[in-house]
Amino acid sequence: MTITPIRTQVGIVGAGPAGLLLAHLLSRQGIDSEVIEIRSRKVVESTVRAGVLEQGTVDLLNETGVGQRMQREGMVHHGFELRCDRQRHRIDLSGLTGGRSITVYAQHEVIRDLIDARLQSGREIHFEAEDASLHQVETPNPIIRFRKGEIDHQVNCDFIAGCDGFHGVSRSMIPEQKVFEYTYPFGWLGILAESSPSSNELIYANHERGFSLVSMRSATLQRLYLQCDPHDPLSAWSDQRIWDELHQRLDIGPDWVLNEGPIVQRNIVSMRSFMVEPMQYGRLFLAGDAAHIVPPTGAKGLNLAVADIRNLTNALSVYYRTGSTDRIERYSSDCLPRIWNTQRFSWWMTTLLHRFPEDAPFRRRIQSAEFDYISRSVAAATSLAENYVGLPFSERFAL
Ligand code: FAD
Ligand code: DHB
Repeated sequence: MTITPIRTQVGIVGAGPAGLLLAHLLSRQGIDSEVIEIRSRKVVESTVRAGVLEQGTVDLLNETGVGQRMQREGMVHHGFELRCDRQRHRIDLSGLTGGRSITVYAQHEVIRDLIDARLQSGREIHFEAEDASLHQVETPNPIIRFRKGEIDHQVNCDFIAGCDGFHGVSRSMIPEQKVFEYTYPFGWLGILAESSPSSNELIYANHERGFSLVSMRSATLQRLYLQCDPHDPLSAWSDQRIWDELHQRLDIGPDWVLNEGPIVQRNIVSMRSFMVEPMQYGRLFLAGDAAHIVPPTGAKGLNLAVADIRNLTNALSVYYRTGSTDRIERYSSDCLPRIWNTQRFSWWMTTLLHRFPEDAPFRRRIQSAEFDYISRSVAAATSLAENYVGLPFSERFAL
């Protein structure tokens, strides 16, 4: 069997937002990388997932030259709406956070922009790479092996970035890891519908029939979510049932109308909070969903992946410029405060807005009280707003 060897500085497993952004930022620092991805380019570029980018994520994409299309097509939002018990309350994100905002721009569009940047810089991505495996990660010469078609490849590198998401192979290479996990007793049914947005801003709604969320992708495409049983087959959700539920859960009387349209895409995701510590071992570093999962309610997963990559890029850049391993050694402990903070916020948003099977009457009253508090207290609304737009980065704590 012949093995084709490749030499690089950083081997990156996974071409999701984390892996592609790392490759992009490293190349701007003159650091070489190889990106290995199990799926095809077409599937990677068309998988519908996240939609909300924090201000810091937007700034980073703009500052590093991959924000042009996002500036043209992304939608800047200065607030969003909370609904509970048919009451509505607007969170004035910009007013409460000194002018910060979020941008609605689909994750797969960010991915397309990053793939274009990579290919335009003359570097490739190894799509459809099978059986990726990591070796001797505890040594200064870690290796990634994978197969493409009939050919076995071996990437010899200085470092490996495990950016291969929750179901990837990298996380299992960390011995003696501590895992923290909570699985929610519900999931989200997400749809794309061809209709104009029912609202200029996102709507997060708590209703006795369950949570729902109104978002959008363009002037003609809506993104809508419904709390559902995570074990439901998609066939349990006919178009009629989806629209009936959305109408009931979002109803606030004649002041607001839900625009219907053909449903062109639908999927169901389960929801969990998951965390592994530490996020590194030897020359292997985990980033993004490979290390942590947050429930999607706070719109944080992609943004957290970007925060990890910011730290990892800085650490590798210091190493290649000065030879110092300080930042590399602290990578995990630099990332953890922001991650736990975001875990807390995502859990809190999820708990505030969803229907739980157990403890229902007591939890329901607490949710109403929380909604009431956010509606009346600038301090409570500010806490929500500053977390939603994304906490600023501080060098010391990497928050
Ligand atoms: P991934 O996107 O999972 O990428 C990992 C990549 O690694 C994939 O391309 C995968 O194919 C590849 N891979 C896996 N195994 C291997 C292997 N063995 N070999 C090679 N490659 C491999 N986040 C937000 O910030 N805002 C939102 O609004 C938001 N909304 C969401 C809504 C939904 C319904 C869902 C499900 C998620 C949402 N998220 C949101 C979360 C966000 O999508 C993820 O956190 C983000 O994709 C994480 O990026 P990643 O690069 O770490 O992992
Ligand atoms: C979207 C996804 C989220 O998880 C969220 O909290 C808000 C919006 C979206 O896909 O548009």
